[in-house]
Amino acid sequence: MGEHMERTLILLKPDAVQRSYVGEIVGRFERKGLKILGMKLMQISPELAAEHYGAHKGRPFYDGLVRFMTSKPVVALALEGHQAISVCRKLMGATFGCDAEPGTIRGDFGISNGFNLVHGSDSPEAAAKELELFFSAGEVLEYDRIDDSWNAAE
Ligand code: RTP
Ligand code: MG
Repeated sequence: MGEHMERTLILLKPDAVQRSYVGEIVGRFERKGLKILGMKLMQISPELAAEHYGAHKGRPFYDGLVRFMTSKPVVALALEGHQAISVCRKLMGATFGCDAEPGTIRGDFGISNGFNLVHGSDSPEAAAKELELFFSAGEVLEYDRIDDSWNAAE
């Protein structure tokens, strides 16, 4: 990976899949210039949800969050790009749909606090841990893409 190239874990949460926004949301990341290294539809187990959201254990919304995230399938994405972590968080918008700016995923497609369509890693450390949690070896592919040079930092 080049300088400032990052990888991040994105989850299209159960509401995104149930509301048929998978293509729209994946398309936004893709059109921005992020490269899809891994992508799968999966059901999150209670154990995986507990690992993934361990930092929130004990918060009032924690039990509901785990129930929500394990209720229906999600789409997990491993994305790579220049400053991918902050770029993806910007595309997602503020945590609550009612606060998120129009033009962002959460701002355009949701009004709920908890049902906010997407998750994105918030630091390089979190990204490394979360990518390992959600993807096994062989599920994240490294390959050249024809427009890689147009999405480079320079
Ligand atoms: P995420 O981890 O899902 O990418 O979201 P985030 O960083 O923007 O927000 P975070 O503070 O990490 O919260 C994790 C998820 O918990 C749910 N939540 N509900 N009802 C509530 O007060 C509340 N607060 C947080 C949201 O689904 C949020 O994405
Ligand atoms: Mg978070």
